[in-house]
Amino acid sequence: MDKIQEFVESNIDRFIDEMKDFLRYESISTLPEKKEDMQKCAEFAAEKMRKAGLENVKIFQTEGHPVVFGEKIKSKDAPTLLIYGHYDVQPVDPIELWHSNPFEPVIKDGKIWARGATDDKGQVFMHVKSIETLNATEGELPLNVKFIIEGEEEIGSPHLAPFLEEYKEMLACDVVLVSDTALYAPMLPTLTYGLRGLCYMEVEVTGPRRDLHSGTFGGAVANPINILAQMIAKMHDSQGRVAIPGFYDDVVELTQTERDNLAKLEFNEDEYKKHLDVEELQGEAGYSVIERTGARPTLDCNGIWGGFQGEGAKTVIPSKASAKISMRLVANQNPEKIGELFEKFVKSIAPKSVKVKVSSVHGGEPCLVPLGSKAVEAAATALSKAFGKETVYQREGGSIPIVADFKKILGADTVLMGLGLNTENLHSPDEHFDLNHFKLGVISSAYFMQEFAKL
Ligand code: BES
Ligand code: MN
Ligand code: MN
Repeated sequence: MDKIQEFVESNIDRFIDEMKDFLRYESISTLPEKKEDMQKCAEFAAEKMRKAGLENVKIFQTEGHPVVFGEKIKSKDAPTLLIYGHYDVQPVDPIELWHSNPFEPVIKDGKIWARGATDDKGQVFMHVKSIETLNATEGELPLNVKFIIEGEEEIGSPHLAPFLEEYKEMLACDVVLVSDTALYAPMLPTLTYGLRGLCYMEVEVTGPRRDLHSGTFGGAVANPINILAQMIAKMHDSQGRVAIPGFYDDVVELTQTERDNLAKLEFNEDEYKKHLDVEELQGEAGYSVIERTGARPTLDCNGIWGGFQGEGAKTVIPSKASAKISMRLVANQNPEKIGELFEKFVKSIAPKSVKVKVSSVHGGEPCLVPLGSKAVEAAATALSKAFGKETVYQREGGSIPIVADFKKILGADTVLMGLGLNTENLHSPDEHFDLNHFKLGVISSAYFMQEFAKL
């Protein structure tokens, strides 16, 4: 065991206790009534960053939730790493499906169970602890470290890009390190090199000026729910492709080498189906499941409502129906452009019998990280050393929109070194985080800093 492993081993119980305290804050960014919890959670993070040995730790107020910043500068000539993560979490509903209180962390089966455990408080905490570990074992960090933890990732980071613009100099760096993605499989060191973007829209269909008796008027007037359902059905063709004209125009296709490499990842379709409790999978023809979720754009209805939703029956033709529809995008699709194509398409297929309103909810750009850079090499070496296994590479279907802004505004590429698992129920009831991955994440983060400083 080296010094880093030793320090982590002998302090891991305390690290976990502190992580529990972090997880107790009800930092749900989308709920206005949690504003105070957000501030307190940010203060907790700031305090832990100070204790880990970071300097100039400061909470920056924004028009939304605060950003926590800290740094430790070694020298002008040393490379500079910016670490990013988020302390905000998703809402907990449906609360009745949780087996324990989402904000009272429980340790069971080698995992910690709480909202935010894997996304992303537990993961960002690995880096706080790796900084503490390096300071304790080496008396210093091997490079310049800057660290930001934001509170609005789960609502699309509306104030973070302006923050990057405003504090460009303070945040100047050579590379960004983010742990907010997953390992491909348990105990398999993984680097993610692609994330999807997002274009999230809402469609409202209005028929008659008010709800009508479905007996007296049924047959003569367009029913907005029927129409909306027909329109959604037209959004895919028979091959599972998105039918919006121009949708695929800017898609960067997978290269044959990439397809060959992704095909090497072990994938068990039966287990996958069993885990989800579905008999059959579906998707775009001609692509594997890994390709469909990581490297191909998709369109999904996230919510649909209208008409009578209560118990029993009410015979009515509703006046309105609505749906939330999101598209996951891949490089080089642009969310604004896709939003415009979507609106144009929806309007083009809407019959004259209804009025249709299309609005944009939020969006984010996809990212594709170049492989083979020094930072990626350092991360692969660090992970392999910590896990004792060779690192694999994957693309993931989720989105971290700010990653594209790190490149655009700070000119820095991002290393996506996530230690979660896609089976850890992020955004779902019973979210959890494997504590062995947490420990190896602390070690990997420390190794990464050492490896990157060497190159
Ligand atoms: N950590 C996730 C993103 C993620 C999930 C990456 C799974 C890779 C695998 C992040 O917190 C998240 O949930 N992002 C949102 C972004 C949205 C709110 C703009 C998403 O992907 O839905
Ligand atoms: Mn996250
Ligand atoms: Mn999330």
